[in-house]
Amino acid sequence: MATTSLWHPFSDMAAVDGREVVIARGEGCWVWDEQGTRYLDGSASLWYCNVGHGRPEIAAAIQAQLAELDAFHVFGDLANRPALALAERLAGYAPQPGSRVFLTSGGSDSIDTAVKLARFHHHAAGHPDRTVVLHRTHGYHGTHGIGTSILGMPYRDGFGPLMPGTAEVPHDDLDALADAIATIGPERVAAFVFEPVIGSGGVHAPRPGYLEGAQALCRAHGIVTIADIVTNGFGRLGEWLAVERFGLEPDLIAFAKGVTSGYLPLGGVIVAPGIADPLWADGAEGFMHGQTYSGHPVCCAAALANLDLLAADGLVHRARTDEGWFADAIGAVSDHPLVGEVRAGVGFLAAIVLAPDLLERRPDAGGALWHAARDEGLLSRGLADGIALSPALTVGDDELDFAADALRRALDRLA
Ligand SMILES: Cc1ncc(COP(=O)(O)O)c(C=O)c1O
Repeated sequence: MATTSLWHPFSDMAAVDGREVVIARGEGCWVWDEQGTRYLDGSASLWYCNVGHGRPEIAAAIQAQLAELDAFHVFGDLANRPALALAERLAGYAPQPGSRVFLTSGGSDSIDTAVKLARFHHHAAGHPDRTVVLHRTHGYHGTHGIGTSILGMPYRDGFGPLMPGTAEVPHDDLDALADAIATIGPERVAAFVFEPVIGSGGVHAPRPGYLEGAQALCRAHGIVTIADIVTNGFGRLGEWLAVERFGLEPDLIAFAKGVTSGYLPLGGVIVAPGIADPLWADGAEGFMHGQTYSGHPVCCAAALANLDLLAADGLVHRARTDEGWFADAIGAVSDHPLVGEVRAGVGFLAAIVLAPDLLERRPDAGGALWHAARDEGLLSRGLADGIALSPALTVGDDELDFAADALRRALDRLA
């Protein structure tokens, strides 16, 4: 008999039912379950708690906004002050001056918004046949209709026909991207979607020059570039929008997670003037798209307070200045015989990948490592072949040492 009514995302409910670990409290990089067991939150929950748990400044901003105006939408000419202020603030971080901001409720919303906007841009410009969306292997773009259709991971099956007009390219191969554009015909390609550093798909930093080359190629062919910075943004790579690291100026930047550090759900798309201006001109067809909670004032107030915390003391840049320290600390486990590779070095992100012979013998070893690490007090994110770490940007020496020690003990257990 089932003991829980909660259907957990991405989960084998037969295994989860009755064995839930109930997280009850959080502070900084740490969380506690209902039994009082302490865990290092090595993944900032789901790659989002960039400022750490329990920040009173965000709680106060939420409370103040709730007392003033709990909720009101921003459809038509209606607005609320926190939504206006947040859009202004985010537009100020955009690489292209004059950018606009469309607010959503999360990352999947943002991806579906960005892809629809790219196609709508071509439609409005008189090129309705430009509909194909290029995406990369290992890419993860959420689980809405469009995001599922452009996943570069094996979660696309079992849902019947997905959105037509997508094409996958190998994630780091510029020639393959050029070939795909030539084969499909540039006049049919609407957009190219990419994560600067691939997150859930395994923590893959781009090959030097790949993203810059891809942007140039897309620009030459009028293809809209969509940077998915849902995991990379708001300090994870040491910059506000992650794209600064590679000198990119994408047409659309889809964000979520770190914009509020997850205290409340919020996402959005930063739209460069080349896309926004024609659609904002007199007589332009309206973009008939939006979510009920786009611009929710309480979520926007949480975001503004979170951005203040990231700005304070340069926290937003810490993952860039200290990425070597982070990579060295986590890389300490690379000499363990069960470790195949530690991928780290760009921002506060790392993948601990198990040795190929172990994975061949035990295809479930990644999941086993995740469980063993949790038993050692370290929460991480599971990957197909190991685990990922992406702690709060406030992480300190003691916490990284704890993570490395827990990981080593977890690997020993696995052996
Ligand atoms: C790169 C990327 N894009 C989009 C999403 C989807 O975001 P959400 O789960 O908030 O819908 C995620 C979620 O992990 C993500 O990692």
